[in-house]
Amino acid sequence: MKVLTVVGARPQFIKAAMVSRSIQSRGGITETLVHTGQHYDDEMSNLFFAELDIRKPDYNLEVGSASNTEQTAKILDALEPVLKLEAPDWVFVYGDTNSTLAGVLTASQMNIPVAHIEAGLRSFNRTMPEEKNRVVADHLSSLLFAPTREAVSNLEREGIVGENVRLVGDVMYDAALFYSARSDQDSVILEKLGLQKNQFLLATVHRAENTDSAERLQSIFDALVKISSDLPVVLPLHPRTKKQLQQENILDEVSRHLVIVAPVGYLDMVALTKNAAVIATDSGGLQKEAYFHRVPCITLRNETEWVELVEVGANKLAGTDSQAIVAAFRDSSQQIQGMEDLYGDGNAAVKIVDCLLG
Ligand code: UD1
Ligand code: UDP
Repeated sequence: MKVLTVVGARPQFIKAAMVSRSIQSRGGITETLVHTGQHYDDEMSNLFFAELDIRKPDYNLEVGSASNTEQTAKILDALEPVLKLEAPDWVFVYGDTNSTLAGVLTASQMNIPVAHIEAGLRSFNRTMPEEKNRVVADHLSSLLFAPTREAVSNLEREGIVGENVRLVGDVMYDAALFYSARSDQDSVILEKLGLQKNQFLLATVHRAENTDSAERLQSIFDALVKISSDLPVVLPLHPRTKKQLQQENILDEVSRHLVIVAPVGYLDMVALTKNAAVIATDSGGLQKEAYFHRVPCITLRNETEWVELVEVGANKLAGTDSQAIVAAFRDSSQQIQGMEDLYGDGNAAVKIVDCLLG
């Protein structure tokens, strides 16, 4: 059997690393790896391939940055000849990025079946590019690997039911378990940044709805600066956010208060995550990782796809209002040790491959 995997953005490298490892150890499947080039800076791409032992992509489409539409179109254009040449039995896509949308559309037009990993997530906010991408991906996929019960219910509500929907758990949980010991061993980020365990807040901000609104960006960073007078705030800075902070002329001021670093590799990120006292983020992946390591999370959005985290009290939806974020921080001592696993048993990638091979 021949699988062609399409990845392009940072979280997809992490997810695909786990499934590729499972494909290799099981045997019976050959995998062709296509990197769309959506993320291309060393610290957004190469670093992950090196650290997570992902082999070099067979193809790099090198599409680079553009508007959502243009980027998707460029991937569509470049991917079709690759799919023609490789003629895979299955195309694997991950999550909800433009690379996901383009992968699923191209394969689907060529009648190649698609497996969507991390299917069924919904924010019910159709202004988000990710929501549009995931709705299309789910409706055009032949196999849907859902990470949570909620995701299965979302698919049911849209009439996607039956044998092709599989609840396998979350491949990011697999990754968190797999790389945790390696991170403990190899990462020196806490020492490098002079941080004490459980005595800092880890923040990430990159969601378009937050970075591309001057008002929301300012409000989030006002809150982080306020919080930094109580607790050091560490922020690995996504290039999109860096650009917007520079454009708004607030990067220098913010840098005086926060510990701002370039995007870090996954092993350093695991170290920062598991040792943070609290996390504030608009990232989808980091909300879950906070829970995997039982660290309280404040989500800098009005809604989340990971509703179970809010239901159990591990995650607070603070939105982007400065006062609300600071209030959520002051109220963030919730005890989440001992809470149940919500994202499977750490074997989602094995289950995905088992399912494919029948
Ligand atoms: C994308 C995904 C988002 C995901 C995120 C993971 C879409 C619509 N969005 O958002 O769902 O959560 O990846 O990180 O697919 N840039 C660089 N270097 C890079 C990559 C990007 O400088 O290597 C800058 C460019 O200015 C670019 C901007 O970041 O325009 C945004 O990059 P893009 O891939 O379009 O979106 P992300 O915000 O990264
Ligand atoms: N991440 C990382 N380094 C960073 C920031 C994030 O390794 O500097 C990891 C993070 O731990 C998670 C993934 O990248 O595993 C999430 O990516 P991101 O927040 O960019 O995207 P999202 O999950 O929101 O799609």
